[in-house]
Amino acid sequence: MITVSAPGKLMLFGEHAVVYDRPCLATAVDQRMFVSIDKLEEKTLELEALDVEVIGYKKPLEDLGKGDIPKGARFIEAVLKRLIAKHPIKGGLRVETRSEFSSTYGFGSSSASTVCLVKAFSEVFGTGFSKKQIFDFAYGAVLDVQGKGSGYDVAAATYGGTIYFMTGGETIEPIEVDGLPLVVGYSGVKVDTVQLIDEVAERAKNYPEVVARIYDGIAGVVELAKERLMSHDWTSLGELMNINEGYLSSLGVEGTKLATMIYAAREAGAYGAKLSGAGIGDCMIALVPKDKKQDVAEAIEGAGGEVVDLSVHVEGVRVEK
Ligand code: MEV
Repeated sequence: MITVSAPGKLMLFGEHAVVYDRPCLATAVDQRMFVSIDKLEEKTLELEALDVEVIGYKKPLEDLGKGDIPKGARFIEAVLKRLIAKHPIKGGLRVETRSEFSSTYGFGSSSASTVCLVKAFSEVFGTGFSKKQIFDFAYGAVLDVQGKGSGYDVAAATYGGTIYFMTGGETIEPIEVDGLPLVVGYSGVKVDTVQLIDEVAERAKNYPEVVARIYDGIAGVVELAKERLMSHDWTSLGELMNINEGYLSSLGVEGTKLATMIYAAREAGAYGAKLSGAGIGDCMIALVPKDKKQDVAEAIEGAGGEVVDLSVHVEGVRVEK
C-alpha cells in the first residue's frame, strides 16, 4: 500500500481568460488530498471515497468509464482508464481517498485526487512518470470528465508552489514567492465551474471582440502581477487584483456575495481583493498588510463570509509513506 498527497489550489490572477489561451498565476494551498492504493489480484477497481460519498464501489477494469458512474468516482475511473491503456497491469487496484478540506471550498479536490492517483500508480508500478507526464495524464482525465478547463488546478496539485501557467500546460513556470500575505474568504455559495465557463462563453458570443479585449487585458494584468509577485511589491499587486476584479465583473462573474466581501476587505485596509476561481461563489482573496490582517478577516466575516485559515506556496504531489 502506498499513500500519496497533493495540495489544493487558489487562483491568484487570470481566471476565465486562461481557458482561452491566456496565462494565469496560481498557488498551491496546504489543504491536501490523500490517495492510498493497493494492488488487487482481481482485475477490478475498488474505491472508497468517503468525503464524496462513494462507499464500497467496485467495477471490473474493462468497464471503466462505462455505465452510470457516481460523481465522486468519475475522475478516478477516467484517469485509471487512461493509465492502464498506456501501462497495462496484471490485477486490479484498491483506491482510498481522503481529504483535509471540504470539496465545497472549490480548492480543486477532484483534480488533486486525480494527480495523486497518477503519482501513486507511478510509484507502485515503477513507471517513473515525470511531473509533466503526471500533469498530462491527470489533465486528460479532467477533460474526459468535464470537457473543458484550463488545467491550472491540475498543474498546481502536481508542481505545487506558485506557478505561471498557460492554458493546457503549454507553459508551467514555477515562481519564487516569499510570504504572500493573503486572507481567504469562502462565500458559502457553491458554484459549478463548467456552468460558469459556459455562461461566460454564451455572453461572449454577442460581443466577441469586446470579450477578446477583456481577456487580453487580463493577460496584461497577469504579466505585470508576475513581476510584482517576484519583487514582493504588495501595494502594486493589490492594485492589480482590483483591476483584475474589474475585468471579472465585466464578464458577469463577480456576484453580489463575493462583491460584498471584496469591498469589505478593501475598506478594512487590504492592498487589494478579488474573487478566486470561477466566480459568483466559492472564494475571494485579499492581499493585506500584516497589521491589517485581523481587520480584513473581521470585515470579510462581517460581510457574511467564512475566513479559511491556510498557507500558500506549499509542496506539490508527494509520497507520504
Ligand atoms: C476556475 O477555478 C477557473 C476558470 O478559469 C476555469 C479554468 O481555468 O479551468 C474559470
